[in-house]
Amino acid sequence: MCGIVGIVGDHPVAERLVDALKRLEYRGYDSAGVATLDDGVMGRRRAEGKLFNLETRLAKQPLPGTIGIAHTRWATHGVPNEANAHPHFVDGVAVVHNGIIENFSELRDELVADGATFSSQTDTEVVAQLLARYRRQGLGPKEAMLEMLSRITGAYALLVMFADDPTELFAARFGPPLAIGHGKGEMFLGSDAIALSPFTNQITYLVDGDFAILGQKTVAIMDFTGKPVKRPRQISQGSAYLVDKGNHRHFMEKEIYEQPEVMSHALSHYVDLADHVVKAEAMAIDFKPLRGLAISACGTAFLAGLIGKYWFERYARLPVEIDVASEFRYREMPLSPDQAALFISQSGETADTLASLRYCKDAGLKIGAIVNARESTIAREADAVFPILAGPEIGVASTKAFTCQLAVLASLAIAAGKARGVINDEEEKELVRHLAELPRIMSHVVNLIQPQMESLSRDLSKFKDVLYLGRGTSYPLALEGALKLKEISYIHAEGYAAGELKHGPIALIDENMPVIVIAPYDRFFEKTVSNMQEVAARGGRIIFVTDAKGAAASKLETMATIVLPDVAEIIAPMVFSLPIQLLAYHTAVFMGTDVDQPRNLAKSVTVE
Ligand code: F6R
Repeated sequence: MCGIVGIVGDHPVAERLVDALKRLEYRGYDSAGVATLDDGVMGRRRAEGKLFNLETRLAKQPLPGTIGIAHTRWATHGVPNEANAHPHFVDGVAVVHNGIIENFSELRDELVADGATFSSQTDTEVVAQLLARYRRQGLGPKEAMLEMLSRITGAYALLVMFADDPTELFAARFGPPLAIGHGKGEMFLGSDAIALSPFTNQITYLVDGDFAILGQKTVAIMDFTGKPVKRPRQISQGSAYLVDKGNHRHFMEKEIYEQPEVMSHALSHYVDLADHVVKAEAMAIDFKPLRGLAISACGTAFLAGLIGKYWFERYARLPVEIDVASEFRYREMPLSPDQAALFISQSGETADTLASLRYCKDAGLKIGAIVNARESTIAREADAVFPILAGPEIGVASTKAFTCQLAVLASLAIAAGKARGVINDEEEKELVRHLAELPRIMSHVVNLIQPQMESLSRDLSKFKDVLYLGRGTSYPLALEGALKLKEISYIHAEGYAAGELKHGPIALIDENMPVIVIAPYDRFFEKTVSNMQEVAARGGRIIFVTDAKGAAASKLETMATIVLPDVAEIIAPMVFSLPIQLLAYHTAVFMGTDVDQPRNLAKSVTVE
């Protein structure tokens, strides 16, 4: 992960670099650093921890200079301390890097044998050491860069500044994203267009294998052999977004409350909310002739895909192969062009998901991308892009992106069912009518349950382990509930298919482990209640998340019962997401963790 930014400017850059880093902090936040060049002298400030620490240091010790690079880190190699923070300096070379240099250990041995002394434990420092070595051998900046690029393997977005070249920055991309921003008399580089949005909306995206040299008014893009290549300049769409918390304490809270609104944006793109039919936008893939569908994604996006599997199989009779992206491409599953593949990613940059996409593309499958970032690499490499229109999601724990992904998947499943003749016009109208109710119902529910979630979180925070159970589409939701709770409150939580309880996890049940049962009054309700009974019989404490009919039908004693309105089966996963998100959120707030930037995590995971 990590976020990188660079400016070849006509006025001081240090503060502007830190401003851009603030927009990249979602990519990592365990240390940060900035380096500038002024009158042939390179200066650097680095600080462990959040960006605020770097800002404080810079306020005390400002950095002059009109050219510079900066970095916010998510540690891969080496602990997150100041020595490992970027930029890395070696003999007049400054480097920031996002990604992993896979052959760093052999390069490091070679450099050490050659007399180099390393001052960090990072893989990145080999880049600076190699460049310094080539410069000592007499190569110019460009030649040294090309030589270095021929030696390193792995995934990288790199920015380099040389002390003896005060007018140019050097950049290379292989894997993680990198964008050039064209200013008026200034040039910019950043991990994404949003980082550059205060400066310009004129963006050129570098592609894998691109090497660029930026002057104040010039850009030269070439491949790693130095052969010029052309990349288009475009107007970035994402740059207008203002990133603030509004009246909320955290971005996560704001994003939970935004869901009714963004849900209507997402839905209205794919379905006609008045006529209750699917729109052409949901049919950008021809589902009719397909023999099967492959879905792959990571984390919360994967769990959205798992719910999508239930929908595609039920409403479109389309068999779905689904796996987490980090496993998907290693399974060597037989794929053929009569299948299509869907990749789900909020950021559109997740390395594992991108690698799976490329694997399916090589197998000749039609590729669909369900993304929030429309200008991302995953979106650019897909045949059909399905935007989720959730707006920027800043909280590291995904909330509104998840429910918008579900809205898109539900619309696509209905479109697929229609195209394949599985559902008729009347059934289509009925399903879309339910989807159209979502913004109103979610708005009602989020306010209805908030006080109860807040007080329940106090009880939940006393426990060390929590189990989530669900059946049907509530099973992936149970997994999502557990993921949400553990990632922001650090309470250990597991999700299980309710029917699996008796095959092992039931051994864990006692009064010290609350069991959160997600059970709308659907086709599976009775069976889930039986599983709840098994928990109750063993002294387990139950938090029952159900609807009005479910609450009336169950006679079991619970630690708490959360009663949602009765809703149609197709929209239950979106509506039932609200209590699991709010419960995790309030528990984390109550425990005093860093809700928006939980430890060890990053928003966009561009390493495998
Ligand atoms: C959890 C969460 C992660 C992401 C995962 C994939 O709350 O946000 O599990 O869902 O890292 O990220 P994207 O969707 O950007 O590919």
